[in-house]
Amino acid sequence: MFLSSTIRSVVHQTARHVRNLHQSTVRAGAGGIFVHRDTPENNPDTPFEFTADNLKVAEVLEVPPMRVYEVATFYTMFLRQPVGKYHIQICTTTPCMLCNSNSILEAIQNKLGIKVGGMTADKMFSLIEVECLGACVNAPMVQINDNYYEDLTPKDMDKIIDELKAGKIPPPGPRNGRFSCEPAGGLTSLTEPPPGPGFGVRADL
Ligand code: FES
Repeated sequence: MFLSSTIRSVVHQTARHVRNLHQSTVRAGAGGIFVHRDTPENNPDTPFEFTADNLKVAEVLEVPPMRVYEVATFYTMFLRQPVGKYHIQICTTTPCMLCNSNSILEAIQNKLGIKVGGMTADKMFSLIEVECLGACVNAPMVQINDNYYEDLTPKDMDKIIDELKAGKIPPPGPRNGRFSCEPAGGLTSLTEPPPGPGFGVRADL
């Protein structure tokens, strides 16, 4: 009796802890929901034709539709709903979350007036939340179409959206002045010029 109530209490506390950590919005819409739901744009009757060029090289697999949906719903690179001209993918996985990706998400949502999974009425911007995009050292970051924008602050995000709205493509990469993913606090090794040829070799050789 005591044991089961202790277990219940631990499970309860763990569940509460997990819920506290998980603050992401419920995902829906443009590629942001991880199960398939028929929509007007994506259902078994949606017409699909390969282009003549693609048909020449395409291999048509005879696999059950569920297998296809499993792949298409797992990877966010497969877009199952129409997306905006600028498709914003915000990473909220742990390293980005610890660098306050929530503030970037908030900045996007406030600026565009859409939620995760949504698209602006003019179809210019769509927003989804994704798992690690492999740029953790430059967290927090977003991917917009093919470009990564890194080391972001809410102000940077605001500016990036303004520039896109103005028809410009903001330069991708870190926004805090560092080059690529070099150490944010300066070099900690390889700080001197390397020794020349013959360094450490015996003098009699
Ligand atoms: S956790 Fe965000 S890029 Fe890896």
